[in-house]
Formats: sequence, structure tokens, C-alpha cells
Amino acid sequence: MPYDFTFHTHHKAYYLFRMAKNYLPYADLPGITQLLPDLPVPFPIPLIGHNNYVFCAVTLTKKFQQYFPNAKFIRCTTGTTTNLFVRGPEVFKEVMIKQAEAFPKPPEVYSVLNLYGPNIVTTNDSVWKLHRRVCEPAFSEEHMKYLALESSKSTELMFKRFGEGVVTINADKEMTDVTLEIIGRVVFGTNLGVYENVPIDTSKHTITMRNALENTLGLGLLVRGVLPQWMNFLFPGTCKAVDEAGLYIRELIERKKTSTEERFDLLSLIATANDTSLDLSTNEMIADSFVFLFAGFETSATNLQWILYELSQHPEIQEKIFQEVSTVLNGKEPTYAEYESLKYTNCVISECLRLHPPVTFLPKVAKRDTVVCGQKIKQGTMVFLDIVSVHRNEEYWENPLEFKPERFDTTISPRIVPYAYAPFSIGSRKCIGFFFSLLETCVILSKIVQKYEIRAPAGVNYSKNPIEEYQQVTIKPRDLHVELVPRK
Ligand code: HEM
Repeated sequence: MPYDFTFHTHHKAYYLFRMAKNYLPYADLPGITQLLPDLPVPFPIPLIGHNNYVFCAVTLTKKFQQYFPNAKFIRCTTGTTTNLFVRGPEVFKEVMIKQAEAFPKPPEVYSVLNLYGPNIVTTNDSVWKLHRRVCEPAFSEEHMKYLALESSKSTELMFKRFGEGVVTINADKEMTDVTLEIIGRVVFGTNLGVYENVPIDTSKHTITMRNALENTLGLGLLVRGVLPQWMNFLFPGTCKAVDEAGLYIRELIERKKTSTEERFDLLSLIATANDTSLDLSTNEMIADSFVFLFAGFETSATNLQWILYELSQHPEIQEKIFQEVSTVLNGKEPTYAEYESLKYTNCVISECLRLHPPVTFLPKVAKRDTVVCGQKIKQGTMVFLDIVSVHRNEEYWENPLEFKPERFDTTISPRIVPYAYAPFSIGSRKCIGFFFSLLETCVILSKIVQKYEIRAPAGVNYSKNPIEEYQQVTIKPRDLHVELVPRK
């Protein structure tokens, strides 16, 4: 018999002991207790594994906003574990900057992303520093000119698919496709075949790179990242997709290493930087470029969807973007050079990241016993930085639920409360791709507004039936459709 399912007395005693040990230090904090996800039964544990508290966190952040809008520390006891939700600019500053060394990322939460090995997102300390040092130059502003150019070309391909005249689009599909096309061009330096068919080299592959990557990002993460290895045989197609995606990236790296052509995609830049310092192995580069895809495309696509939603509800804001885009671009393509001048457009993007941050909470773990803003935190406690609740708190933002891009115009608004805005995280682990995303979004948005008016589809009234937020990797608007009406 592989498992003994009996819940013996010594199991119960151990369970109660662990529960008390992890609960008592936080007993005086507001919060919730739920027994279920951590029962000491062997079977569900490998199934949902140590990521069970992430599932809890996802479902709980909204409830916490409702029940404890102003609490700085909230206790969340699940099974024998007690996690803390922490909120507020001062707490963020302590955890992410002043005491950052005491609060690394919990490796077990991120292990799901180790599909191709440890990488820039999942590592800590000196290993992370090495990844970050090799990858950083690929994100420098100099290379972002290439990103602006490719973002513009990809948006044109999207417009071509829309055809002439009024079009109603499925925002999730279109924004996901355009950001995937851009990641293909700018991260991998290849055509993933989003807008046209790319032939498969049947001597090496059975599926396209796009299919392999999409399958890997979907079921692949679950099958290879969460389920125990012995269950892989149940998902032969998914495992093949994960292997083929790795093979595709390996082939690109090998080609780039031997190519003499000057290239500006991130993988080429990392492969070249690496040649001279011999820092990262090919496997580590595969792992890093995969997480650029993971971290970079759904987040940006989600932000764009929320922007389309907000603009469909605010024609006056749309008109202001149109006026700015018309003045600054005068009918030309947006490039890197105009980014700074598209001030209002950038305020709209920042405001959308405030009201609808794609990443709503960030997990950290206390490496030692410490005190944060007067609260004792015990070594081993999981700490979730609750970004969305700070972004929507009236203590730091006037009328926080109102979409008001002017908040980010420093010439007319008071200064933003320091550390109350963290869509890309803060401190040394801040998103490496934050400017990549802001620039890409600015190009796509200014091109859409240049060409179209954005409206809710006929018969749909989002002010009567507000769009629902739902959680995938990021928090997205559920089933958003918008109508694009060509400008005269
Ligand atoms: C709206 C778009 C984006 C948002 C909201 C976003 C948000 C974030 C956040 C909150 C983190 C910190 C994660 C953590 O500590 O667990 C992060 C890290 C990261 N992001 Fe982004 N991101 C976006 C776009 C991008 C893009 C376009 C790329 C790459 C092309 C990217 C690559 C990364 C990487 C590699 C890290 C890990 C950095 C490190 O730990 O050194 N992100 N991002």
C-alpha cells in the first residue's frame, strides 16, 4: 500500500502543536482561520503542494479588502500555517527596502517557474545577482528603441486582422496576441506565427514554437511545476510541448551564439553578454528567457485590457489622449523618441496600473525573527505584500475607486505618497521589464487611439453591469469586448 491514510493520535497531536506554534504569535491580529488546505493527509499535499497558500491568498485578498480595509497586518491561518497579509507604504518600505535581506522570496512558492531550471525570478542572493547582472543590459533604454519599432509593427499586424470599418474585439484574445507577437520578436528575435502561419521544421519538431510555448505556460506549469513527476505520464502531449519549447529556445541561443549579424532582441543580447563573461549556462539562459515570456506577456496584455475597458467608459479621457497623440505624433508612427512627450497617455497607463494592478500581491518569507512597524514577525512566516489594497486605499489616494489619470501629472497633483504605488514591486527585486512594458503599452495605446474610438459594444452597458474581475495569473476583466470605430 503506497500511503497510510490513517489519522493517528500522534498525527493529531503534531497537527495541534504546529497549529498552536504558528497561530499564537499572531492571535491578536484581525484575520481568518480555515482548517482545510493543510490537512496532514498524504495525498492532497503533493497535488496542491506547498502552493496551497497561494491559492488561498488569491481568493482572500478581496475578502480582506471588504472586512479589514485599514488593517496593516492580517492573519491568515490555513491548516497549521499562519501567513500574514501586510499593507501600507511604511510596511512595504520596511519589507522591500529597509529589511529586504530579511525577506527573500519563498523559493517553494516560485518553484513552479523552475520548469527549465532556476532563473532570475525564482532565485535569491548571489545566484539571483548573477542572473540580474547578465540580463540587465538587455533592458537598457538603448535597446528599447528596437522594442518601440517592433511594438508598432506588431500593432499594424493586429489592425490588418481587424480589417476595415467598425470591429468588435475580444479584448483578451487581441491584447494577448499582440503582446505575444512582441515578446516573440523582442525577447526571442523570432516570428512566433501569431498573425501568419510559420512552417514547422518537421525534422526537429512536431508543433510550432507558439503552440509549444502556450501549452507550456498553460497546463505545462501545472504538470511539470506542481504535480509530482510520476504523474507526468498522464499528460504526454503537455510534457512534449514543454520539451519542445525548451528545444526551440536552445536552438535560438545556439544560432545567436554563432551569428555575426547585429541583433537587438533580448536573447541575442544576453547570449552575447554571456559569451564574454561565461556567466550563465545555456540552460540558465533558456530558463531566463522563458520567465521573460511568463512575466512579460500576460501582465502587459492584462494592463492593456483594463485600459481599453476604462477608455470605453471615459470618452473624455480618450479625447485627451487623442489630442495629445495628434499634437505629438502629427499622424506619424510613435517611436522611442516620443515616449517622454506622450505625458497624458503615460498618466493613463500609470493610473490603470494603480486601479487594476495585474500583480495583486507579492509573497516573501521571514528569514529571521524581526519587527516590522511594531509587529513581531517570526522566522519562517510567509508575508504577502497586498499591493491592490494599498492602491485602492483612501488613506493614500483621494476617491481611490475613481479612474483619474491626472493623479500622475506632477504639475497639477500633489506628490504621490512614497511607496503607496508598487505595480512593478519596489526595491532591488523591482520588475526588470517595467520600462519595456510601459513603452510597449504606450506605443500600442497611442496607435489604437490614433486610429479608433473605443466604445462598449452596442447593447452592453458596463456602468449598469460593471465588468467582473477574475483571477488567472493576473487579475483580468472577465469576457471584455469593446467596439473600435475608425476615426474620420
Ligand atoms: C504591466 C506589466 C508588468 C507588471 C505589472 C509586472 C510586475 C512585476 C512584479 C510585481 C514583479 C516582482 C515579482 C516578485 O517579486 O515576485 C516583477 C518581476 C519581474 N518582471 Fe515584471 N511586470 C510586468 C512586465 C514585465 C515584462 C514586460 C517583463 C520582461 C520582458 C518582465 C519581467 C520580469 C522579471 C524577469 C522579473 C523578476 C525580476 C527580479 O526578480 O530580478 N515583467 N514584475
